[in-house]
Amino acid sequence: MGFSRNGRNLLIAPSILSADFLRLGEEVKSAEEAGADLFHLDMMDGHFVPNLTFGPPVVAGLRKITTLPLEAHLMVLHPEIYLQELADAGIDRVTVHVEATTHLHFVLARIGALGMKAGVALSPATPVGTVVDILDMIDLVLVMTVNPGFGGQSFIPHSIKKIAAMRTLLDEAGARHIRLEVDGGIKAGNLARVADSGADTFVMGSAIFGDRPCSTVFGEIRAVLS
Ligand code: DX5
Ligand code: ZN
Repeated sequence: MGFSRNGRNLLIAPSILSADFLRLGEEVKSAEEAGADLFHLDMMDGHFVPNLTFGPPVVAGLRKITTLPLEAHLMVLHPEIYLQELADAGIDRVTVHVEATTHLHFVLARIGALGMKAGVALSPATPVGTVVDILDMIDLVLVMTVNPGFGGQSFIPHSIKKIAAMRTLLDEAGARHIRLEVDGGIKAGNLARVADSGADTFVMGSAIFGDRPCSTVFGEIRAVLS
């Protein structure tokens, strides 16, 4: 499973945010057939970010049509409210924003207690060091490469330095099992540069669920990652 570049295992995580929600099942199946490694599900509450999406019932529906891992990217305040329902719906990993909860350690412990994997997401202005004291509770760090809330935004150039700094932090902590995911403005055209700065898991929304068939886009991804 996955892709590779310079001997590193890399994963592509389509975000369904840009999919046609009236044909969501078909969109997910075609991304799966084209080579998706997991699905990234953006949940927004209209408070942490100025947008609304979907919640656990959509996850339960997706769980019935794909065996690929499902990760929830919670862009919500009070993430603890939704954890039991997400576990019941069959989510594999829940990623919460460092900025969205006062009690990050408590929330991560709760995710683990419910049998799910945990990730933490950092918005662009949040320093990489905020993850240092919870590394033993997570299997993924998500470095946002746009401000959270909407698909189709441009990659923030400073993110390259931030990804490299997070890569160094994880390596020096001996935490190489923790995936370093990037989200926002990722396209086949910048994948190589972002991968070479240290990311290993790539969320792609509008690039995959855009105007062109996702098999074409996965062809372009393969040309870069092999
Ligand atoms: C934005 C979301 C992203 C979004 C990415 O807040 O977290 O997952 O779907 O979309 P693109 O790939 O279009 O930037
Ligand atoms: Zn996301």
